[in-house]
Amino acid sequence: MEILRTVAELRHWSRTNRSQGYTVGLVLTMGALHAGHASLIRAAKASCGHVAVSIFVNPTQFGPNEDYARYPRTFDADCALAQSEGADVIFAPALEELYPTRAATFVEVEGLSDRLDGASRPGHFRGVATVVAKLLIAAEPDRAFFGQKDAAQVAVLRRMVVDLRLASEIVVCPIVREPDGLALSSRNIYLSSEERAQALVLSRSIRRVEALVAAGERRAAALIEATHRLFAAVPEIRVDYIALVDWATLLPVDLAAPGALFAIAAYVGPTRLIDNAILA
Ligand code: PAJ
Repeated sequence: MEILRTVAELRHWSRTNRSQGYTVGLVLTMGALHAGHASLIRAAKASCGHVAVSIFVNPTQFGPNEDYARYPRTFDADCALAQSEGADVIFAPALEELYPTRAATFVEVEGLSDRLDGASRPGHFRGVATVVAKLLIAAEPDRAFFGQKDAAQVAVLRRMVVDLRLASEIVVCPIVREPDGLALSSRNIYLSSEERAQALVLSRSIRRVEALVAAGERRAAALIEATHRLFAAVPEIRVDYIALVDWATLLPVDLAAPGALFAIAAYVGPTRLIDNAILA
């Protein structure tokens, strides 16, 4: 499997495939690949002729006190996993390739960028939108694959693709979980065994909310209150947000309509974890 390092190589690879009549899929990642990423690569391979996986730990989406420096970097294992799932090429650019010296151009999705994770991580979605725009412009994929795990990110990127008139279709794949419910995340390796056990309150809450909605509860206040009660039993965890929002605008809603996003973010020790459900 080839490893491409420059935007010019990626663009050439994509254009060559497309000129031969193949569809091109792109799976965007920061590496430290796990079964969640693998599911995106499989989905891409199932619907596209050729698939590129990008691996780039994007500095602009990390805050000054966040984990950019210690974010797990497992490049050789990532390549092996991507290849075994059917990826055709890896795109792993150096920092300067995506951010030339004195790069001054950023993508801001106004409003959406300040909601949910954007409220507690100022600048995060500006960094995400900027790097994803660079990658979509470079690779020109027919389809780009993202996980519902990062549901607010999906809302920001869907809006960006519409606003910038990018030609790629955004495909959203379901959350992949550990057998006990914990959503897979590259950051789970930061958790001690006690924290790992405490973290289960996130997925437990998501299941509880889904059950309440299935039983007919639609009031946001009741769903949020029930979740706060479950978190109160795990005082070691600090809640960042518990919210019921419209998935497109990320603005709070009072009643759970079909397609509404119920989302949680919480600090387990120093590690920030997220989970969500799109309500039926
Ligand atoms: P990263 O956290 O590496 O995630 C890459 C993709 O994998 C994202 O679309 C994310 O939603 C998806 N993913 C992560 N965990 C998942 C899980 N348990 N189940 C299903 N999908 C999962 O998200 C990013 O990187 C970056 O912000 C990026 C878009 C690459 C821009 O830098």
